Amino acid sequence: MRIFLIGFMGCGKSTIGKKLAKTLSCKFIDLDKYIERKTGESIQQIFKEKGEKYFRVLETESLMEICKSDNLVIATGGGTPCFFYNMQRILDKGICIYLKMEANNLAKRLSKEKSKRPLIENLTEKYLVNFIRKKLVEREVFYNKANHIIQAKNISEKDIIKLIS
Ligand code: S3P
Repeated sequence: MRIFLIGFMGCGKSTIGKKLAKTLSCKFIDLDKYIERKTGESIQQIFKEKGEKYFRVLETESLMEICKSDNLVIATGGGTPCFFYNMQRILDKGICIYLKMEANNLAKRLSKEKSKRPLIENLTEKYLVNFIRKKLVEREVFYNKANHIIQAKNISEKDIIKLIS
């Protein structure tokens, strides 16, 4: 069994993924952390030194490597399902859960964690909400193909884990 958590940056994929894996006695893999271990570079460094296109190829290769193992909960990066054939790959390889959250909530959660995320690190508060709104429209075309969609705003982490498991 493989469970993929997808959704925008800041929706809680990693936090929920870790706890879910523990509940299900599965291994947890955070795709960004996997890439950082594999390359010895941080996501910020990869974006800065080699650019987003290079990162997306690396991200796809890493996703394919991870899919060779079983009994996993995988927290994908916010953009993972939206490049190449990754969304189809995710659906073929396991159960996909979209942790859905509104732009305003995402912006609140992300405002303190921008520096770790190259796509938003230079955006002011005002532009951050607009950026998220615009990106969500593009990305939900992919996110909405998930097997299950959980409205992450009105539900506690504990209940999300209960619901999924
Ligand atoms: C990205 C999300 C990040 C990371 C990279 C790009 C995106 O992961 O993969 O900064 O395109 O949304 P998180 O969703 O874990 O922040």
